Amino acid sequence: MWEDYFDALGEEPPCISQEEYRVRQSRLFSQLKPNDVILITSNPVSTRSNDVSYPYRNNSDMLYFCGWQDPDSLFFAYCDAGEWKSCLFVQPADTLKEIWEGRRPGLEGAIANWAIDESYSYDDLDTKLPELIRKSTRVFLRLGNDSKVDKIVEDEMKFQSRERQKFGYGPSSICDPSSMINELRLRKSKSEIEIMRYSAKIASQAHIIAMKNTIPGIGEYQLEGLIEGFFKYCKTSGSAYPPIIGSGENATILHYTENDDICNDGEIILTDAGCEYQGYASDITRSWPVNGVFSEAQAEIYQLVLESQIAGIENCQIGKPYDAPHFAAREVLAKGLIELGVIDQSLEDALSTEGDLNKWYMHNTGHWLGIDVHDVGVYKPNGEPRLLEEGMVVTVEPGLYFGAWRKDVKCPERYANIGIRIEDDVLITPNGPDILTSDCPKTITNIEELVG
Ligand code: GLY
Ligand code: MN
Ligand code: MN
Repeated sequence: MWEDYFDALGEEPPCISQEEYRVRQSRLFSQLKPNDVILITSNPVSTRSNDVSYPYRNNSDMLYFCGWQDPDSLFFAYCDAGEWKSCLFVQPADTLKEIWEGRRPGLEGAIANWAIDESYSYDDLDTKLPELIRKSTRVFLRLGNDSKVDKIVEDEMKFQSRERQKFGYGPSSICDPSSMINELRLRKSKSEIEIMRYSAKIASQAHIIAMKNTIPGIGEYQLEGLIEGFFKYCKTSGSAYPPIIGSGENATILHYTENDDICNDGEIILTDAGCEYQGYASDITRSWPVNGVFSEAQAEIYQLVLESQIAGIENCQIGKPYDAPHFAAREVLAKGLIELGVIDQSLEDALSTEGDLNKWYMHNTGHWLGIDVHDVGVYKPNGEPRLLEEGMVVTVEPGLYFGAWRKDVKCPERYANIGIRIEDDVLITPNGPDILTSDCPKTITNIEELVG
């Protein structure tokens, strides 16, 4: 059923290598002092119902530095005689537990197959971790993720041993490592880019499948099933975020995720869906007519959003401020809505903070993309917009939403319940924008050819 779409993906990229994890770690260590230690905690397991948990996903920073996927884990690094040692606390091998809960690499498996130097049992955290941090000065730890680790570190800071008083050592401050880590994650390596390109290809094919299967009367949930089915077929861990599949007025609700309605003749369906492949997210939105042909009014809005998106993508250039695509896309939208008679203001007024463009376009035009769908990285370091650099990946996703159900504005009748967003994932390169999601059709002609 999925073979042709799968074949269109081409060759699978290799996983992140042990060497690459080591490079990431050493980039982090190079920013630390010999008496520092750094801890990266695991995410807690969350209950879904009674004794059933949500599918587990580890903390993105843990995935970034060593790729460890299991709960009850802690990445820990310290400097020993000038050499940084990476350690991992993990669940120990335990046949009885493994019979019920699944395989565990255990301490030996962790050393053998992950980019670390020492492994410890998470069960020994209470005794081993204090020992490891006792002689440090600064502890780099993002508080609030693993309360057990937080408490051990805080207790150790309060601990006043005679030895400590005599020699003056012991952790005296907790520092948040997020800004250092986020800077590293913001710029993608060659392997990360190849994985993200593959993730984007999968999501592109999933949208094509959804377009082809759209006919009046199909359920949003059925299209969701097709998309998520293909994500699974491609060995992804599934959706990178809850898919948004909204037809008719649902297309005008930005974070609509019920996906429980029927797609009706004459409506636009907006689909925002991306997968997580080897830990990396893709994020695509396409909007198409349920019956396969854009009405005149739908085409006017679609074409305008498409032109604004193209203008946004053109601004994804090294050295441009991160928000240049946003301003470019907004300008095209505002001009277009003035021409269509939707906005009765000057261009300057329409674009102002209080201007009428905000009625129909109320979100930003993009975000960083990576391990997290809304990936880490400060947008305005020191208050100034960050300039785009090679290796950054951003989304470009302008839209227009004419919710006829809204009470705050009067929706133009001609465009009632048209919701259009077009979103691509774009890599910043010296040769200009590289659209990772370029396999996903977006012109009116190409979409009409596919739908139904
Ligand atoms: N899918 C989430 C977003 O587009 O930001
Ligand atoms: Mn997005
Ligand atoms: Mn999206």
